[in-house]
Amino acid sequence: MRLKHHVAVITGAGSGIGRASAREFAKEGAKVVVADINLDGARETVKQIEALGGAGLAVEVDVADPQSVERLVDETLKAFSQVHTLFNNAAIQVNKTVENTTVEEWNREISVNLGGVFLCSKFFMPHLRKTQGCIINMSSVNGFFVEPMCAGYCATKAAIIGLTKAMAIDHGKEGIRINCICPGYIDAGLAEGYFQAQPDPAAARAAAGKLHALWRIGKPEEVARLAVFLASADASFITGAALTVDGGFSSGLPPAS
Ligand SMILES: NC(=O)c1ccc[n+]([C@@H]2O[C@H](COP(=O)([O-])OP(=O)(O)OC[C@H]3O[C@@H](n4cnc5c(N)ncnc54)[C@H](O)[C@@H]3O)[C@@H](O)[C@H]2O)c1
Repeated sequence: MRLKHHVAVITGAGSGIGRASAREFAKEGAKVVVADINLDGARETVKQIEALGGAGLAVEVDVADPQSVERLVDETLKAFSQVHTLFNNAAIQVNKTVENTTVEEWNREISVNLGGVFLCSKFFMPHLRKTQGCIINMSSVNGFFVEPMCAGYCATKAAIIGLTKAMAIDHGKEGIRINCICPGYIDAGLAEGYFQAQPDPAAARAAAGKLHALWRIGKPEEVARLAVFLASADASFITGAALTVDGGFSSGLPPAS
């Protein structure tokens, strides 16, 4: 087991990639704080962890709200005394152009996706310093390559890459590693929402698979296993990196047939 005696906090772990990550961290021996705005989803993830023989704690949090994040820190320390990994995974996606996005939608998307990384990192940093822990931020290939109808989302994912590098150089000398993950299309909530927002969701899904060199969409576990690697001692000299797990999406467009 690569994460024995390890405590991991994973935001947005009440579904999708976050839930798969919670399971993979637990399989490697970590105790997992499953933090989500959807408490029922978080509780279901903890049930799944316990069924694997692991230990988890479900915490309701809004990562865009400073007081809520401070409560998350308190509950984490109360339950497990320390924290080794913060995985900033929670996000929302507004499937609209800038012109069609309301001011409220814009502000919320920025506050959750980018503000959530800021707030969780800010309030967990003193505790990560004590364990020489690490932060993993969830970006996307959309941080490098944009797609239609999700302008605000792409902006937040690009900003997360910059924030990751900035935090890595600020905190590297303290022994804290900070990296981000850039997945291609993954069979989970936000991709499904994007397909549903297209005129023909099934066609959009099939076309999306073919944007990857491997000609398929990824599975949540395939991203989760990269997060486990980054949290483990195997990644001890990796910081400030934006690592793709994208089936070759960012290598270029594969032939159409
Ligand atoms: N699915 C993909 O194709 C894909 C690709 C690249 C990157 N990503 C990234 O992976 C992450 C997870 O995406 P997913 O597809 O698993 O989505 P998902 O919708 O299944 O999971 C997101 C989770 O975040 C939670 N959440 C939303 N707002 C929150 C808030 N304010 N506070 C706390 N929790 C909140 C939701 O309740 C949900 O459980 C996101 O950061 C997303 O940008 C996903």
